[in-house]
Amino acid sequence: MNILIIGNGGREHALAWKIRQSPRCSKLFVAPGNPGTAQVAENVPIAADDFSKLGEFCIAQSISLLVVGPEAPLVKGIRDYFEQDAALKHILIVGPGKVGAQLEGSKDFSKQFMVRNGIPTAKARTFMAAELDQAMDYISTCKPPIVLKADGLAAGKGVIISLSQTEAKAVIKDMLVNKKFGEASAKVLIEEFLNGIEVSVFVLTDGKDYVILPEAKDYKRIGDGDTGPNTGGMGAVSPVVFATPTFMKRVEDEVVKPTIAGLQKDGIDYKGFIFVGIMNVGGTPYVIEYNARMGDPETQAVMPRIKSDLVDLLVAVGEGSLQGKTIEIDPDHAVTIALVSGGYPGDYEKGKVIGGLGSYEPTLVFHAGTRQQQDKVVTEGGRVLAVSGKGSSLEDARAKAYAVAGQIQWDGLYFRKDIGQDLLNFKI
Ligand code: AMP
Ligand code: GLY
Repeated sequence: MNILIIGNGGREHALAWKIRQSPRCSKLFVAPGNPGTAQVAENVPIAADDFSKLGEFCIAQSISLLVVGPEAPLVKGIRDYFEQDAALKHILIVGPGKVGAQLEGSKDFSKQFMVRNGIPTAKARTFMAAELDQAMDYISTCKPPIVLKADGLAAGKGVIISLSQTEAKAVIKDMLVNKKFGEASAKVLIEEFLNGIEVSVFVLTDGKDYVILPEAKDYKRIGDGDTGPNTGGMGAVSPVVFATPTFMKRVEDEVVKPTIAGLQKDGIDYKGFIFVGIMNVGGTPYVIEYNARMGDPETQAVMPRIKSDLVDLLVAVGEGSLQGKTIEIDPDHAVTIALVSGGYPGDYEKGKVIGGLGSYEPTLVFHAGTRQQQDKVVTEGGRVLAVSGKGSSLEDARAKAYAVAGQIQWDGLYFRKDIGQDLLNFKI
């Protein structure tokens, strides 16, 4: 079958790399893609949110399966657009409709969903600009740290953790009144702080049944030892030592099952990935957030560990025939290191020539923010590449990833040196 992936990051390169391996995949396209996806698929110069052009392309190329990588086209309603068009509605889509995508698109919606369905999460209250006084009064009753969350999509920057009530009051005013995150902070959640360790859990569902993909740990801060500002993700490891079988069983029973049941109860026909950000608080799982897509860079660590034919699973998701399907997971470890532009997550220069690219298999080099410039590949984004090493132990996978990361160069290249280090001698 012919398959189209939407997106242009490292996540989409990893998805394309895995999908390409399926004997069921005939032609594979990525819109708009990047120089990395061009190695395993054909790039199509159509933007991820240009639904009419994407639709025309799907008809022209007889696309049977559409895999949506990022959240923006989902929240904007790509599934609804395809389902409402008689010429497109036969196409199987991996990714929820507009309402389901609100699990990610609105933190207020997802919090209400969790509360309604008995899914463990931090206590929260939501306020709008007209309720500033009430929000201030409420903050006066909260014990710091106080978590403030913009309701809408804010490119991963919408969560601020304040260490005092005074700071939290200034921050919420900035969000609600000064519209710090634009419309995304028209509503703000004030949330209880959860003290624990985070793990990313990935569920693939057809709305009735599900499979759980390998879990991963993301490293969000720019600096070694989890210091400095937040980023989109500086690295990932899978599996995660503290996500023991006992803990994952609790996640499945207390989070995944009630989530799927809740979607059904609410009449949300959810077909796609659900990325559940979980806080492990002394062995009890709490949901921090839902995303309606896979994680980046977690996907670059997760895909190399999936042994099953991913297209089989994605087709079953699209068709609604996931019942009875299982997923085979490689016990090997994977470590992914994000190679970023100097200055990221602040300002950075683009257009630096990347040296040392080549084939390092089995260690994989996934492209994120790169651009082809004649015969050279140059930097085009903050997160430029993701290097994924695999090995029989965490040490081995780290050594392989870092050996390759060390061979790639450009002016200003930076990466964290400690991805996975905290888990080497982790005491559960
Ligand atoms: P999010 O944008 O929802 O992924 O949140 C960004 C980060 O803020 C999360 O990855 C957590 O590290 C942190 N965070 C969010 N909510 C909480 C909470 N209730 N307690 C503690 N940390 C949180
Ligand atoms: N790495 C976190 C995310 O994709 O949201």
